[in-house]
Amino acid sequence: MLRIDQATVFFAARDGRAVQALDRVSLDIPEGSFVVALGTSGCGKSTLLNAMAGFLPLSHGSITLDGRPIIGPGADRGVVFQKDTLLPWKSVLDNVALGLKFAGISRTERRDRAMELLRLVGLQDFANAAPYELSGGMRQRVGIARALAPDPAILLMDEPFGALDSMTREQMQELLVSVWSRTGKRIFFITHSIDEALVLGTQVVVMSPRPGRIVARFDLDFVRTIARDGDPRAVKTSVAFTGLREDIRAIIHQSEDQKELVS
Ligand SMILES: Nc1ncnc2c1ncn2[C@@H]1O[C@H](COP(=O)(O)OP(=O)(O)OP(=O)(O)O)[C@@H](O)[C@H]1O
Ligand SMILES: [Mg+2]
Repeated sequence: MLRIDQATVFFAARDGRAVQALDRVSLDIPEGSFVVALGTSGCGKSTLLNAMAGFLPLSHGSITLDGRPIIGPGADRGVVFQKDTLLPWKSVLDNVALGLKFAGISRTERRDRAMELLRLVGLQDFANAAPYELSGGMRQRVGIARALAPDPAILLMDEPFGALDSMTREQMQELLVSVWSRTGKRIFFITHSIDEALVLGTQVVVMSPRPGRIVARFDLDFVRTIARDGDPRAVKTSVAFTGLREDIRAIIHQSEDQKELVS
């Protein structure tokens, strides 16, 4: 279990004021789950993910992964960002294998493992290509393979498909559903898109505008249906899906209106 308990974060703004980015966020991410955080820009989603990755400390509260407190970055958490962070001078295969080098794994074993992951994301034919020879979607697939390489306990993904065109984005969602169901990895995923959240999450949490709080939680089955059928079309046009999309839209608007009343 990854357990976030009452996570609160204050930043010191440049004028010295304290800016509260997160307000007592509690969230459990059990084995095998796919948890999606949904919220408008600036509501603290990246702050939450960065705290889970160990990139920034909480002001109050705690985060533990399988019982161990998170106090810094570690190989037990694989991170994928919106912008790829591949090394341009290394091949696709070497980029994926890089994380294993530090784990002291032999060169042959590193290449075998990296090749296996490239097959998982459908890039086995591009192992020797350079990152600049790939499309944006392909680069994000390399990023997913690289994050999976050290066999982390959880994948943390911060709007990984946010910069992609809508068709590539849908393909990437399907790919990620298949990666999730084939590896059984826990995933924590951030998005602005209600549809993306509904397609991917076994649990969707909706966050309020700053300071980010969780204002609604939904347990969903759409992603399991999509994993089973290999096609999201029937799910996306179902009454259950379109109804929930409107419900969530209303929740987001309502929490924005409340913010305007307060400020
Ligand atoms: N290092 C920092 N110093 C001061 N304020 C910060 C810092 N990082 C984030 N913030 C503030 O905290 C709030 C939450 O930021 P965060 O990046 O977590 O939002 P977000 O939900 O990821 O937004 P987006 O969807 O645009 O990526 C924002 O108001 C931001 O200005
Ligand atoms: Mg962000």
